[in-house]
Amino acid sequence: MSTLALTGGSPAKTKPFPAWPHHDERERQALIEVLDSRIWWRTPGTQTLKFEQEFAAFHQAKHGIAVTNGTHALEVVLAALGIGPGDEVIVPDYTFVATASAVLFTGALPVLVDVDPGTYCLDADLAEAAVTPRTKAIIAVHMGGHPADLDRLKQIADQHGLKLVEDCAHAHASQWRGRPIGTFGITGTFSFQQSKLMTAGEGGMIITNDDAFERQARSVHDCGRMPNEWFYSHFIYGSNYRLSEWQGAVLRVQLQRLDEQTQRRHRNARLLDSLLSQIEGITPQRLDEQCTRNGHYAYIFHYDRSAFAGVPTETFIKAMQAEGIPNQAAYPPIHKLDVFQNGEYRKRLSAQAAAADHAFLRQPFPNTERGAWETYWIPQPALLGDEADMHEIVAAVRKIQQNAKELRG
Ligand SMILES: Cc1ncc(COP(=O)(O)O)c(C=O)c1O
Repeated sequence: MSTLALTGGSPAKTKPFPAWPHHDERERQALIEVLDSRIWWRTPGTQTLKFEQEFAAFHQAKHGIAVTNGTHALEVVLAALGIGPGDEVIVPDYTFVATASAVLFTGALPVLVDVDPGTYCLDADLAEAAVTPRTKAIIAVHMGGHPADLDRLKQIADQHGLKLVEDCAHAHASQWRGRPIGTFGITGTFSFQQSKLMTAGEGGMIITNDDAFERQARSVHDCGRMPNEWFYSHFIYGSNYRLSEWQGAVLRVQLQRLDEQTQRRHRNARLLDSLLSQIEGITPQRLDEQCTRNGHYAYIFHYDRSAFAGVPTETFIKAMQAEGIPNQAAYPPIHKLDVFQNGEYRKRLSAQAAAADHAFLRQPFPNTERGAWETYWIPQPALLGDEADMHEIVAAVRKIQQNAKELRG
């Protein structure tokens, strides 16, 4: 008789994890108010404007600019920084495609760099080694909610005259040395897509403390307009990246839950750290002591198949899912994506940059590969469960380890 759920046994998880997204009467009411107001777009509205102010204040930032999604947030930021053809931007190889594609959107070259083996965030030494006279910015991704080494990266950026951009798509409410992420560099970008830590289905945000940058980015996001000027005057490159009033209204309510939900995710994740690290072959994402709060878009742990009778990662993932533990696919390395392998990315670059040899694409990225092919990602809604839920996750891992031989062959 099988024990493991994948081969016919009963699942380790006995009660369902909390459903996502959370919503209640407050979202319903907020949407009805927008409906009845007949102001459904941002320009004359108050909901998105207030959301910008509230979200920025939550992250101790002076300004917030709400945009259509997290990819557009990066595009607006890079355009506002004046990055374009002939420039280079340092980007981690381990991230969602948007971090690199936003750089290509501007015509600049994303220079890919490996990540730290423990936190899976940009390796600061490798980032510094990748700086050239063409480098204009570094984009740090706070992987799974864990901040990149913001002190080192800021120091490197300042030393080389570069802009530090924080891609906080995973890290709403995360903190580094007790301070919210997003303003350690010139700006931070966020996503409110369905899977993120707060959501309106889609949406994005840019935060900053820099007045001149805010003016430029706000203009890019609104067709190149400038404050207090005629509606049909357009001063710089811009497009329509505005967030609707529907989304602004829903996100204002979602923000009210963020603090409590972040505390819960952080607490449950520390319980998982202590329990999972006792299992041979399982190594949770390292928590840097400067990371005083991790928003935890995902709970990431490394899986060493040699402690599980050689069972491959894909099979372990299937076995965990069968036990009732959700999985979110880990990102593949950016340098392995078709757009980089087939040379299509060159079509976005200046003629000179397109003709150049991009040797970084041939270098090994061992820590990204390890993150991409040997980790398990538990999506954030599971971390909103209770302690019993965390114990059931751990029980599932132990059960698979004890019965790993059932999965061989
Ligand atoms: C690290 C990172 N950056 C940027 C984005 C882009 O956000 P969006 O999906 O809202 O465009 C994502 C989305 O998954 C992401 O994970």
